[in-house]
Amino acid sequence: MKKVFFKQLVALLDQSSAPYSKFNVSAIVLTTQGHAYNGVNVESAAYPTTICAERNAIHTAVTQGMKKGEVSEVHLLARNPQGKLVLVYPCGGCRQVIAEQSNAKAYVYCYDEKGEARQHAIDKLLPHAFLGAEL
Ligand code: THU
Repeated sequence: MKKVFFKQLVALLDQSSAPYSKFNVSAIVLTTQGHAYNGVNVESAAYPTTICAERNAIHTAVTQGMKKGEVSEVHLLARNPQGKLVLVYPCGGCRQVIAEQSNAKAYVYCYDEKGEARQHAIDKLLPHAFLGAEL
């Protein structure tokens, strides 16, 4: 499924800056407006200031003009310290941001080493999301 993104995700892994974990992650975010944005994880020596690939892609999308609610798909791949491609699911923080930036409507595609993707609706990955309407 969606093999076209797999090739791009594999290439994008080389942009990841992960000197501490040596765990590379790449993400491609698609929007309802038909745009695509890339992201990689960028680690920091002050560990909590690391940014995940998914949020990096979404923040870039916002910077480039995407409006809140317009994330439609997130494609995701990782490579472990042994250099093996591995399937990864978004962390809790990224699930929150994907939910908010898609009005809980995005689909997340998690790729394995063969380029096969598992499709997950964000409202299944993060049920009862806090989307900020209460604020
Ligand atoms: N990471 C991501 O980029 N996305 C995720 O959803 C899981 C974790 C990154 C953060 C850190 O640079 C490395 O993977 C190991 O946790």
